[in-house]
Amino acid sequence: MLSRVVSGGVFGVDAYRVDVEVDVARGLPSFSVVGLPDGAVKESRDRVRAAIKNSGFAFPQYRVTVNLAPADVKKEGAAFDLPVALALLAADPDAAFSPDKTLLVAGELSLDGRVRPIKGALVLAAKARELGLAGVILPAENCAEASLVRGIDIYKASSLAQVVTDIKGGLLPLYEEGPKKVEEDCFSTDFAEVKGQGHAKRALEVAAAGGHNLLMVGPPGSGKTMLARRVTTILPKMGWEESVESSCIYSVAGLLTSERPYIYERPFRAPHHSVSDAGLVGGGVSPKPGEVTLAHNGVLFLDELPEFKRKVLELLRQPLEDGVVTIARASGSALFPARVMLVGAMNPCPCGYLGDERVHCTCSPTAVERYRSRISGPLLDRFDIRVEVGAVRYDELSSSADNETPSSTMRARVELARGIQSERFTSRGFFTNARMEPADIRKFCRLDASSSALLEHAMEVMHLSARGYTRTLKVARTIADLGGSKGVGREHLLEALQLRGPLGEDGNL
Ligand SMILES: Nc1ncnc2c1ncn2[C@@H]1O[C@H](COP(=O)(O)OP(=O)(O)OP(=O)(O)O)[C@@H](O)[C@H]1O
Ligand SMILES: [Mg+2]
Repeated sequence: MLSRVVSGGVFGVDAYRVDVEVDVARGLPSFSVVGLPDGAVKESRDRVRAAIKNSGFAFPQYRVTVNLAPADVKKEGAAFDLPVALALLAADPDAAFSPDKTLLVAGELSLDGRVRPIKGALVLAAKARELGLAGVILPAENCAEASLVRGIDIYKASSLAQVVTDIKGGLLPLYEEGPKKVEEDCFSTDFAEVKGQGHAKRALEVAAAGGHNLLMVGPPGSGKTMLARRVTTILPKMGWEESVESSCIYSVAGLLTSERPYIYERPFRAPHHSVSDAGLVGGGVSPKPGEVTLAHNGVLFLDELPEFKRKVLELLRQPLEDGVVTIARASGSALFPARVMLVGAMNPCPCGYLGDERVHCTCSPTAVERYRSRISGPLLDRFDIRVEVGAVRYDELSSSADNETPSSTMRARVELARGIQSERFTSRGFFTNARMEPADIRKFCRLDASSSALLEHAMEVMHLSARGYTRTLKVARTIADLGGSKGVGREHLLEALQLRGPLGEDGNL
């Protein structure tokens, strides 16, 4: 007898439909799985057999063939356990039940028949809705994340025995809690804790307002890491669509839990400098998201930038430009979103004190050169803002006065500037000044005669490249937006030139 259960597989951050077909025929008892299963799917035979027996059902003593259709796509993971078990029980001539074909089923089974959580439940639920199915049966732990998808019924599966009993009785338990109310962001850190560093804070505010990448250069202990860790506290609150996008990524990466079923705070990812290629940009036989994708809609922080392997950093160049990582595999290309604000931090030289007034730098010019050359020019070029973070003065540090601007004030200003940008680029979704094309720059960054002369002079004196020129204009546009100014004026341009910071075009101080 033949039976079929609808399920789904995950590829990249998308899901696709998989029909689990089971045929039970007379012959020597056997159990085979066809349809390009990977190791975990093949092993599912043993799990399914044990789970069926331990749930109090009889394993059919027939020739059992499981087909995962379409057969030309490689299936991976353990999420097919539950649909296979259900189809198998339904295919048994003695069984008196048939699973609903309008429900998508996914779940891993443990040997005792309990249903375990899976990766990608959210994208599977979204696919089910796209396919016009009535609902999904998902592991109980995954129901909260799946409830982000509206307009589809979500049924809880706790164990194989429960699911079978409930299908027979026509009473599957519906998950009705719906998405939890998105809580207000509550950060444990605040910019008010950082003493002094007004210049760096202003640079971070400008960067956050225009979505610009920012590099901080300074001696050890000046607060670079401390500043970077607070960037998300001033970024605009996440919108619903952004939240769903990020939650899908975390769902396929298996990073959502029933306590934290979706992402409503902008992600902050700070990978260690020993990170591998695949760890940073994603990869693997069946592609998995990397740090740059996990940081989508948020901040990717690369601390101690020159310590990263140069080859790994170079991989970031294309995603930073396009906002997406494409990983090509024989089975197709996976697209991972990667629109991030990149924040980098580094010392000016190996000992860290080059240019410091108080501590003498002990590095030879060749050592400094070698240190700097670990970051390529093109990557350096992607930092719109480069700011020097000097050592904090004693009086600033020891001051008990509570006069530092809190994150909430900075965030309010950033949100205003972002509001102006979303009006300006209405038709383009989440668009920021940092992503302006040459045509936009011509249109929105017009300079008057005196500013234009100033920029021309700066190009000569500062040896600005064409890229440096457009970058300065973009930053000036953001500064004008922060000031609520319609046009880009001389003072905005001057500040933008100042924010080009200590590193020149060639990476020299
Ligand atoms: N501006 C500041 N206000 C208050 N505390 C500070 C400030 N700067 C540094 N500190 C203190 O010094 C510690 C070290 O700062 P942080 O790790 O940010 O330095 P860093 O610039 O990243 O140094 P390194 O180059 O060695 O990585 C912080 O945890 C904090 O306690
Ligand atoms: Mg640091």
